[in-house]
Amino acid sequence: MQENQNNIHPVFNRILQRKDKESLLQQKSIVIWFTGLSGSGKTTIAIALEQALNEKGFLTQILDGDNVRTGINNNLGFSEEDRIENIRRISEVSKLFLNCGIITLNCFVSPTVAIREQAKKIIGAENFVEVFVNTPIEICEQRDVKGLYKKARAGEIKNFTGIDAPFEAPTNPAINVKTAHQSVEESVNVILKTILPLITIK
Ligand code: ADX
Repeated sequence: MQENQNNIHPVFNRILQRKDKESLLQQKSIVIWFTGLSGSGKTTIAIALEQALNEKGFLTQILDGDNVRTGINNNLGFSEEDRIENIRRISEVSKLFLNCGIITLNCFVSPTVAIREQAKKIIGAENFVEVFVNTPIEICEQRDVKGLYKKARAGEIKNFTGIDAPFEAPTNPAINVKTAHQSVEESVNVILKTILPLITIK
């Protein structure tokens, strides 16, 4: 703990509670955590899922690596240390949304078991639904939507996940989405089946 924390007096116990906000919104909040390689389809699926959830009356927020790294995390790169800090801040931000009753859809490569464990610990295991967007690197590289794999192969980007930086697949994700074999709509339906019971107030 930093020294100046001695002079900090949190007011968590005096502010409206999560259940009050959930009751107002008529939903239960969770964090849906998409992990997978760059170009695996995390954001595409999250956007379609958000649309489906909104149509059902749920309030959501997408947090996405490319967006967050232009704002709150614009001082971070892709070293292991910076990725850890990237995910730590995102996890804290997710907790704020969680306490606001909002369902967040987080799209981050979050490449290692340790990084995702850190996220789960900060957010709370009971609030954390891990979705592995399980697209083989060959397909991500073939799609190369952002042209980054080409640059990484040419050595123009260093520490690129899957090329010269590690990606550790989740061993026991709540949901395993195989985009090579299913459409975006099918993936969304699979995710909805698991999360609707978790976010619905009976
Ligand atoms: S994470 O590893 O810290 O979780 P994050 O999801 O925020 O990564 O950002 C990944 C996005 O940044 C990728 O989708 C890609 O567009 C871009 N990017 C740029 N450089 C890299 C890199 N070296 N490794 C992975 N992604 C990169």
